[in-house]
Amino acid sequence: MKKQNSMAKLVSMNGLQHAGYLAVAKTRAKVLKAFSYVIPIRRPMLFVGETSCDELCDMLINEGNTHVFIVTDAVLNKLGVPARVTNYLDKHNISYTVYDGVTPDPTFKVVEEGLRQSLEAKCDSIIAIGGGSVIDAAKMIAMAQGNDCAPQKLIGILKARKPATPLYCIPTTAGTGSEATLGAVVSDDETHQKALSIDPRMVPLAAAIDPIIMKGMPAHITADTGIDVLTHALEAWMSVNASVETDYYAASAVKSVMHYLPLVYKDGSDLKAREEMGIAAHYGGIAFNKAGLGYVHAIAHQLGAHYSIPHGRANAIVLPYILDVNRNASKKRLAALAKRTGIVKDSHTNDSNLADYLITQVRDLIQTVGINPTVKGMQVSDFDKIAKAAAKEVSDTYAVPTYMSASEIKDILMKIKQASDGLVNDEKTSDKVA
Ligand SMILES: [Fe+2]
Repeated sequence: MKKQNSMAKLVSMNGLQHAGYLAVAKTRAKVLKAFSYVIPIRRPMLFVGETSCDELCDMLINEGNTHVFIVTDAVLNKLGVPARVTNYLDKHNISYTVYDGVTPDPTFKVVEEGLRQSLEAKCDSIIAIGGGSVIDAAKMIAMAQGNDCAPQKLIGILKARKPATPLYCIPTTAGTGSEATLGAVVSDDETHQKALSIDPRMVPLAAAIDPIIMKGMPAHITADTGIDVLTHALEAWMSVNASVETDYYAASAVKSVMHYLPLVYKDGSDLKAREEMGIAAHYGGIAFNKAGLGYVHAIAHQLGAHYSIPHGRANAIVLPYILDVNRNASKKRLAALAKRTGIVKDSHTNDSNLADYLITQVRDLIQTVGINPTVKGMQVSDFDKIAKAAAKEVSDTYAVPTYMSASEIKDILMKIKQASDGLVNDEKTSDKVA
């Protein structure tokens, strides 16, 4: 009896905690919505196609810049990717300095070294050539240089006082959409804890979507990054803070990913599909810039940090579970998306069927692009920490249609673990048979 009473107390305490969490999270969601209405977020000038890098350089030159700091990583530099820009700058007698020291999940040291080199070379503008890590590092260098401060001073919301050094971006993957967004993530050198800087001044002046640059991306990275785009768009679509504007970009991105990702996964040299995926990534970035993300990203960030899974793949693993969670609250929205994107054949059926059809299509796509939806080494002892951190990320940052308690998040983690253990066992069996 005593045990029953203490259990009842615990349940009601958890209920109270969850009610408190809900109230705080919903209030923050309203503040974020107000923030997105009051503070204008500019959109980068967008150049698309095989001459887009030249057009981006023309814009930079016409703005009167004379010495460009090119931010990239060592692999891309070795492959000669920056030559697409440096050859054009050479032709127009524009000098440049190349910094290829960006690592995945860049740390403050990476940003500080870039800032030091840019200042030493007296660069007046920056071109980022790379994936999300390179673009995030370049954003931080541009903001720190423009504000004459250490990058650490920019962590948080609206910390800048002055504009960033003019920043131009050429994404080499179709995923993060970072070239369109107002945030950048930097990791602490010792703890590897990630810190976020958010400021509309961080949005680059221009971006070039060049399918030739993206052509060499391996199929598995194309798949992972493509599902990241889909997740940005779906989370922005389901967000309570979605608007007519964000809906346009989110729906366009979903439609493109559903159609073009299987094509470009199959044939990486399909330039039309590459270009459309690049635009979809950019549109996904614009959509979540204002509408925000949700539990898929919150949980995926933790899976990535604990088990070293690439970001897009972690999203692919979590996405179907969160679509199921949101299915009832977002039924009408998902049905509307299924109709708007034209991915459903029979649009006269009811909302329940349309929502289910869309969710099935997403599951099928993840399978079609060869993503193994398993996580190796998941430990139940990690679940508490993961669930709390994910719940905090949602309550601090996002406006989701369904709020979950930490124990509901842990249920999802358990399902992922069970599915992973089952598939790992299957793999072992087939290894034995082979
Ligand atoms: Fe993402």
